[in-house]
Amino acid sequence: MTDFTFDAPTVIRTKRDGGVLSDGAIDWVIDGYTHGRVADEQMSALLMAIFLRGMTGAEIARWTAAMVASGERLDFTDLRRDGKPLALVDKHSTGGVGDKITIPLVPVVMACGGAVPQAAGRGLGHTGGTLDKLESIPGFTAEISKAQIRQQLCDLGAAIFAAGELAPADRKIYALRDVTGTTESLPLIASSVMSKKIAEGTRALVLDSKVGSGAFLATEAESRELARTMVGLGTEAGLVTRALLTDMEIPLGRTVGNAIEVEESLEVLAGGGPADVVELTLALASEMLDAAGLDGLDPAETLRDGSAMDRFRALVAAQGGDLSGPLPIGAYSETICAPRDGTMGLIDAMAVGLTVWRLGAGRSIQGEQVQSGAGMRIHRRPGEPVAAGEAVFTLYTDTPARFEAAMAEMDGAWSVGDSAPELRPLIIDRIGP
Ligand code: URA
Repeated sequence: MTDFTFDAPTVIRTKRDGGVLSDGAIDWVIDGYTHGRVADEQMSALLMAIFLRGMTGAEIARWTAAMVASGERLDFTDLRRDGKPLALVDKHSTGGVGDKITIPLVPVVMACGGAVPQAAGRGLGHTGGTLDKLESIPGFTAEISKAQIRQQLCDLGAAIFAAGELAPADRKIYALRDVTGTTESLPLIASSVMSKKIAEGTRALVLDSKVGSGAFLATEAESRELARTMVGLGTEAGLVTRALLTDMEIPLGRTVGNAIEVEESLEVLAGGGPADVVELTLALASEMLDAAGLDGLDPAETLRDGSAMDRFRALVAAQGGDLSGPLPIGAYSETICAPRDGTMGLIDAMAVGLTVWRLGAGRSIQGEQVQSGAGMRIHRRPGEPVAAGEAVFTLYTDTPARFEAAMAEMDGAWSVGDSAPELRPLIIDRIGP
């Protein structure tokens, strides 16, 4: 039956003028958008009003609950391994540049006895998405059935899947935010992350709230507020929830893009890889194991003894992926060289994210196919010595016409100096119980 109590123009005007949306209006607009009764252009206008006006804590909680209620909520509490309930635990990042951490982290936690039901996302704005990265592995699919997710959780200890019927309102709103300049909003990020995580059936959750130029919310105060909001939403929904505040002023690791980040993740799983990627992987793994009640295990050992790599290979194979050949790095490349001898200064994470997005790693219209091969290699990280004329960045794409605009994003985004730049610690703080 048609509900004449609410209409989209009034809901949009209420928020545009700084009002508070009622529970009924929020439930109506989320349900209407999920089922096509509220149009893309109306939701775009509402998202922009939310972006500009914000939301109260009560509005965020209701918006999140309505997004959870837009689809099904998975329940794995009946699953057993060796007669015991699974230690269900997951992680989600608020989005960063070069943030491939989920890829090595999930197998580390699997190897330590955790079970990770990971509903992952695609790229958003200048940041990459775990699904776009993993889908660069030939054959890998994130579109797996509920039965397969359950089977993998029991047999392997993880499944990484597209949210699908979980929080379908988020799937639609996420894709719309990506192309309407409405990503950088605390209420929209918190509700997007937490609706998926509450619906996916995890019991414990560790959030990685990014701080710095490459994060959606650049300042530490905003990121802290986002982390607190998400921890509150998770706790309210019955999840053991905590967060780390971590640096995103410079890109993570030495690669940014899709296939190229999987390549670096494999190096970490083989016991090598950049120190910052290893440090964050292990810090998040320790938090996840603790939140899941799995103590006494050393996540670093799983990288040394190859057990995390074995788990990753098994997970990829179960989801149709083939890691036997090389990963598809872009067919065309360009380098950016150092103008002088010296020490690499800061590298602006936002500029790198935009460069890689322009190379084809992200979307500018809804549903666009991303390039697996688009990406950047960072040969010199901040603080490392640099010689005049040597390549400091290599850019990859399958579409050479993209180079000019992509290279322009790097203008003024990095420098070579006489001394090492001052860097913030990678792990800034921890929030939660
Ligand atoms: N990750 C999400 O799932 N949603 C956001 O809005 C940002 C990061």
